[in-house]
Amino acid sequence: MKLDYLVFLGSARDSTPPRPARLGLRVARRVEALLGEKADVRLVDPLDYDLAGVFKPHFAYARGAAPRALDDLAREIAAADGYVMVSPEYNHSLSPALAHLLNHFGASLFAGKPSAIVTYSAGQWGGVRAAVAMRAFLSEMGCLPVSAMIHVPKAQEVLGDDGEFLASVDADRWTGYFERSLAQLRWWAEAARRQRDEHGEDFPPPFARDPSQRNAP
Ligand SMILES: Cc1cc2nc3c(=O)[nH]c(=O)nc-3n(C[C@H](O)[C@H](O)[C@H](O)COP(=O)(O)O)c2cc1C
Repeated sequence: MKLDYLVFLGSARDSTPPRPARLGLRVARRVEALLGEKADVRLVDPLDYDLAGVFKPHFAYARGAAPRALDDLAREIAAADGYVMVSPEYNHSLSPALAHLLNHFGASLFAGKPSAIVTYSAGQWGGVRAAVAMRAFLSEMGCLPVSAMIHVPKAQEVLGDDGEFLASVDADRWTGYFERSLAQLRWWAEAARRQRDEHGEDFPPPFARDPSQRNAP
């Protein structure tokens, strides 16, 4: 079964210090390459979307009136079988660029499909605190994260700009580490795809009328 994945990159940063900027691109490229061996994968870069100014989510526009780029991405999210969220740690939480991009889309687009959490840092912690925040965030988005996570401390010493492991690290061990999470993601994505193929119509509908629909009586 050939599946479709979206790899979201959580950095739109253009600043030094801290150096290097957009360290996350190399991490996202490695994930894209590994997942792409068995699936169709697209890297979603926040820089490709004009999200400055006031915040208006995709679902708040009248049908056909949303910016083309948001419409296209909404369709891709709905069509994807799973997601990888690649985030740096900013102030012990997930990246605002990733949260802002994802906040443009309703949870129903992600619902019933799994995600994998990938974090990184320039320092020694690998973004683990961001990862903890991402579990809650992604669960609320409807794309439940698989249990294994990928954390890459000192990512600039692990991966080159091109997304290849540097000669100074044990590429096989790193690949095995990445693959543990990606294998879980593939497993759940396949299972969810079968379930959607069989029972797609039965997926619990979103709270389309009013947020109060989620209130206890
Ligand atoms: C606003 C800001 C906050 C940061 N907060 C943390 C942090 O809480 N923990 C951490 O390990 N690194 C932190 N860093 C360092 C980042 O891990 C490092 O800059 C990394 O390269 C950011 O990813 P990016 O280059 O892809 O944007 C922070 C960097 C910035 C710019």
